[in-house]
Amino acid sequence: MPTVLVTGANRGLGLEFARQYAAAGWTVHATCRQPEAADALRALAEASPDKVRVHPLNVTDHARVDALAEELAGEAIDVLLNNAGAFGNRAGFGSSDYSVWERTVWTNTFGPMKLAEAFVEHVARSERKVIANVTSKMGSIADNTSGSYYIYRSTKAALNMITKSMAIDLAPRGIRTVVLHPGWVKTDMGGPSAPLDPPESVAGMRRVIDGLSAETSGSFFDYSGAEVPW
Ligand SMILES: NC(=O)c1ccc[n+]([C@@H]2O[C@H](COP(=O)([O-])OP(=O)(O)OC[C@H]3O[C@@H](n4cnc5c(N)ncnc54)[C@H](OP(=O)(O)O)[C@@H]3O)[C@@H](O)[C@H]2O)c1
Repeated sequence: MPTVLVTGANRGLGLEFARQYAAAGWTVHATCRQPEAADALRALAEASPDKVRVHPLNVTDHARVDALAEELAGEAIDVLLNNAGAFGNRAGFGSSDYSVWERTVWTNTFGPMKLAEAFVEHVARSERKVIANVTSKMGSIADNTSGSYYIYRSTKAALNMITKSMAIDLAPRGIRTVVLHPGWVKTDMGGPSAPLDPPESVAGMRRVIDGLSAETSGSFFDYSGAEVPW
């Protein structure tokens, strides 16, 4: 069975990814900042100890990313799933908080890039060879009709760009990349008014990952499989 590594697997969409891949029989490397506080994830791992392994990982800690890549050296990772993300804040034009912005770019942009660089050999030795980055439609320049949200939009737009470059650079090794918009989903980030529940969003994103081909590598899809304009 294939193997997936998920970041931010303790709650929200990341936890649902871990649940669904485990239920489908995959081996799941579920990473999160504080495993000791991740009750739902630990319960999942205890229910399927041979399938779900929990690893501490703050994606902004590059030494820890390298250490985990070393711990898993020799293992194949079919899908590297960069899910962990942060919203930053909603400060409008004139009120930018650059320290919040910096922390957010470390999470949303540098995090997935560093994970890809650290785990590229694990992905390359797998069958499926996919790097999937969870972005947002708010990172689409074409879709931006309401302005503001400088931090979140820019860090996700940058993630979109690096995902496209990786698709080109890693194609000779058979590695495919994709950016995924989950829809607006009921999580701590999406809030209670969101129309989608995590199971539907994640099932859709898993279908998109399953269907990714060499031709569609480097694309921007939403959870339903519709292409999102850049
Ligand atoms: N929900 C939506 O409507 C929506 C829409 C578009 C895109 N997205 C994207 O979907 C992804 C998942 O979001 P969500 O809705 O599940 O959000 P969420 O409920 O707020 O969960 C965010 C996850 O990211 C983790 N995280 C944040 N910073 C991290 C770091 N430095 N290192 C490791 N993990 C970190 C959090 O861990 P802690 O518990 O330790 O904080 C948590 O597990 C994000 O990339 C988000 O931008 C969500």
